[in-house]
Amino acid sequence: MPTSEPRIESLLAQMTLEEKVGQLNQMNARAGVDPDLLRAGHVGSLFNASGPLTGQGFSDSGGAELANQLQRLALEARLKIPLLFGRDVIHGFRTVFPIPLGQAAAFDPGLAQEAAVVAAREATAGGIKWTFAPMLDIARDPRWGRIAEGNGEDPLLGARLAEAIVRGLQGQRMSDPDKLVACAKHFAGYGTAEGGRDYESGELSDPTLRDVYLAPFESAVRAGVGTLMAAFVDLNGMPATANRYLLSDILRGEWGFDGFVVSDWESVGELVHHGLAADAAHAARLALHAGVDMDMVAGTYLDTLAGSVRAGLVPLAEVDDAVRRILRIKHRAGLFENPFTDPARAARDLLAPQARELARRFARESMVLLKNEADLLPLRDVRRVLVAGPFLHARGELFGTWTPDGRADDVVPLDQALRQAAPGGVALWFADYADQALHMTPAVDAVVLLMGEHPVRSGENCNVSDLGLPPGQAELLLAVAALGKPVVLVVFAGRPLVLTREVAQAQAVLYAWHPGLEGGAALGEVLFGLAAPGGRLPVTFPRATGQVPIYYNHKSSGRPIGSDPRFLTRYNDLIPAPFFPFGYGLAYTTFAYDNLRLSGDVLRGRLEISAEVTNSGPRAGREVVQLYVRDVVGSLTRPVRELKDFQALELGPGETRRVTFVLEEEQLAFTRADGTRGVEPGTFHVWVAPHSQGGLRGEFVMP
Ligand code: NOJ
Repeated sequence: MPTSEPRIESLLAQMTLEEKVGQLNQMNARAGVDPDLLRAGHVGSLFNASGPLTGQGFSDSGGAELANQLQRLALEARLKIPLLFGRDVIHGFRTVFPIPLGQAAAFDPGLAQEAAVVAAREATAGGIKWTFAPMLDIARDPRWGRIAEGNGEDPLLGARLAEAIVRGLQGQRMSDPDKLVACAKHFAGYGTAEGGRDYESGELSDPTLRDVYLAPFESAVRAGVGTLMAAFVDLNGMPATANRYLLSDILRGEWGFDGFVVSDWESVGELVHHGLAADAAHAARLALHAGVDMDMVAGTYLDTLAGSVRAGLVPLAEVDDAVRRILRIKHRAGLFENPFTDPARAARDLLAPQARELARRFARESMVLLKNEADLLPLRDVRRVLVAGPFLHARGELFGTWTPDGRADDVVPLDQALRQAAPGGVALWFADYADQALHMTPAVDAVVLLMGEHPVRSGENCNVSDLGLPPGQAELLLAVAALGKPVVLVVFAGRPLVLTREVAQAQAVLYAWHPGLEGGAALGEVLFGLAAPGGRLPVTFPRATGQVPIYYNHKSSGRPIGSDPRFLTRYNDLIPAPFFPFGYGLAYTTFAYDNLRLSGDVLRGRLEISAEVTNSGPRAGREVVQLYVRDVVGSLTRPVRELKDFQALELGPGETRRVTFVLEEEQLAFTRADGTRGVEPGTFHVWVAPHSQGGLRGEFVMP
């Protein structure tokens, strides 16, 4: 459909069919780009054009010169349409922040937004204008390696973070030189991959798709995200890359999205493997018709679309619409006015001290204290501490998945970082070998074991069938624990692991995720009490791998907990509950919840729900106060609890504060039995809670 954007229409009117198709074509610069293709206007976007992924190693200008060279070639083309340079800037560029799942654990969208601002500033200094982030896939199965890249299992937390990250990356105007075009991915339902096997097919009911899996995407679209990426997944028999229902009906029709959609890597061509398309030309037709505007590196659009239009198999209007959307985003990104990057920026903008400080704060806030028997942490009254485990000298291993621009050299090795943080008078002993650790243990006051998964075990297609620690680690822990000294287990991981045995053996357990380049310093501050860990679990921790999928916002079933124990829904060999629930996390102090108050027992438009939270322990601390609701009777069954809001607060020892939430009617809407979205009258339970299994419960009615 022609637009009211004269610049776009006038350009379109001048374009040949080949030039139009060229705009829909993204190429991988690393594989080498024929300059003639650029000069002919046959490339709309380049991927990995700058930085180490070009195969050229790190460059001090962050890659800007290389991008500029390629841009110059593209601007030699007849119509001088600039290239859009894309790249995976997932949790930081040079300054690497915690993995997205760790970021989610901070329950702090403001901090996520600040980190995104830094990522955008650094990446644009490197000549990049488009990032394939945020990753917004709800994940209910931690076997799936990509759980590391997203915000966990909850739609509300995911939606809040989506909005914050999009705002951080794009700013008020994505044309500002230090802002990026964001790309919400992977649209949609990717986390349903059966068995947690990446790229596997998935099935999802429409209400769950809409109420759970789409919520973060809708939020990103409302926040003005410029682009979306279609997922690899075959959802309900229709691969997302050819899914018109998702890409056109919902995304554009219902939500009014006017940016463009890019395929995932070669996912257009993969429609042939899915058995949906007979050949590449057929695949390109299906994807374009569904609403995929740009073909990521597969070349199927470039090779086949012009021919298909000429053969009458593809309406020219479909190509034109896709071109319009891409040109629109290029205009919004300011590329026509500012196609080049000043190479001098990198020296100013990469790895600024404030960025490092932010990364350190984020790492501290993301760490979740799972156990702290006898207040072992923070370590006090210790003279000698043994530190061991596979992460002892970690540097780049602290980054986690997707950090092509992070440099291990920027990281203070973990052992050194701990030494820097240890107070005077505390001697740290390090052991590289298990037998050495056992030899030293009797002579120390406490042992800190740095364990978990190497980053290669999480992320894209890094799935596991066993959620236990990697081989050998549990044995070391058991052997050390058997010697009777207090043990602190620190876990670095890209997913929730099954730690039932390990948690029983260690007196304190701290979950650090992959904390980014300041992870070592942050850990040191937390271990020695210069700061407290601030995180809460953004995902449920299972007791055994066989217990997944397990998530807090499940349905009740006809035989829930509390029914006749012989018949309730459970495994014969497991306690029917998570090991650690969603929202859980301890502090270096304790909190008490009291005096729940509702502004009425009937919700008309809105209701205020509040409770007093008291820091009942000896130290200052951060609590994440959570508001949950249960819609007791619905035209379709409703989850046993749904997070509706949260507030983080810092309380001094003995301090009490009343925390007030405002619940609006709209927050209770869901996809009803007739397929419409709205609220239904009836009784609701409400909790103000420290996590998804506790809290003070109240009740109200929706008339
Ligand atoms: C494939 C991944 O699924 C996607 O997340 C990523 O952005 C692209 N490759 C580009 O690297």
